[in-house]
Amino acid sequence: MKNVLVIGASRGIGLEFVRQYRADGARVTGTAREADGLARLQALGAQALRLDIASAAGASALAWPVDGEAFDAVVLNAGVYGPRTQGLQTPTTEDFDTVMHTNVLGAMRVLPQLEGALAPGARLAVISSGMGSIGQRTNASGWLYRASKAALNSVLKDASLVLAGRAVCIAFHPGWVRTDMGGAGADLDVADAVASMRRTLAALGPDDNGTFRNHDGTVIPW
Ligand SMILES: NC(=O)c1ccc[n+]([C@@H]2O[C@H](COP(=O)([O-])OP(=O)(O)OC[C@H]3O[C@@H](n4cnc5c(N)ncnc54)[C@H](OP(=O)(O)O)[C@@H]3O)[C@@H](O)[C@H]2O)c1
Repeated sequence: MKNVLVIGASRGIGLEFVRQYRADGARVTGTAREADGLARLQALGAQALRLDIASAAGASALAWPVDGEAFDAVVLNAGVYGPRTQGLQTPTTEDFDTVMHTNVLGAMRVLPQLEGALAPGARLAVISSGMGSIGQRTNASGWLYRASKAALNSVLKDASLVLAGRAVCIAFHPGWVRTDMGGAGADLDVADAVASMRRTLAALGPDDNGTFRNHDGTVIPW
């Protein structure tokens, strides 16, 4: 992967993608919302773009920096969890809008702008979550987050149909990863989770387009 774009790269999994692709010598563009995140990206030698995918104006600002680009890999990582519910607690309108606008509408704003900025055979991954899988669901914790990732998976599937033959598009479960979102008790170190996803991305072929994958490449039911 010589030319990589990571959206939502200020910290956690996104920043680690930037770190590892830079360590491999790739040209990397990363996005962040705030100055400290932008500074972390610049310190890694990445091109840093300010982007808030929950804002229509902010997301539209992606158009000119990606104009003329040919990304070999795009990772749409930005996401929020929202209320840590266990049962059927109705979310506030504000929480619903924040989670859905970030995790779903953000993808629907960003992906169309990238359609013309992909190298032939590019790998496009959205960082979803196993919690978005309906087929393997056994509990209802974080039901707003789950609904948003199920909807993100639908968005990714549609992108894979439109981009078939031009890019290989997948939804990733990164594992339960030790980040601000995953918490200190999570299973996986962020470096290991990202290394595993990078291996999977590199090994994808055209037949893998439009699938939902664990970080190690195992297929997950929608
Ligand atoms: N950690 C896990 O166990 C786990 C498991 C399954 C799926 N995931 C998914 O993996 C992705 C990364 O999670 P993480 O664990 O690294 O979480 P994190 O440490 O909380 O990082 C979230 C990232 O998303 C960015 N972001 C949030 N809202 C944004 C917006 N409106 N516009 C642009 N960027 C925005 C954050 O930027 P700021 O610094 O500006 O907030 C930050 O860079 C998420 O999509 C998450 O749902 C994580």
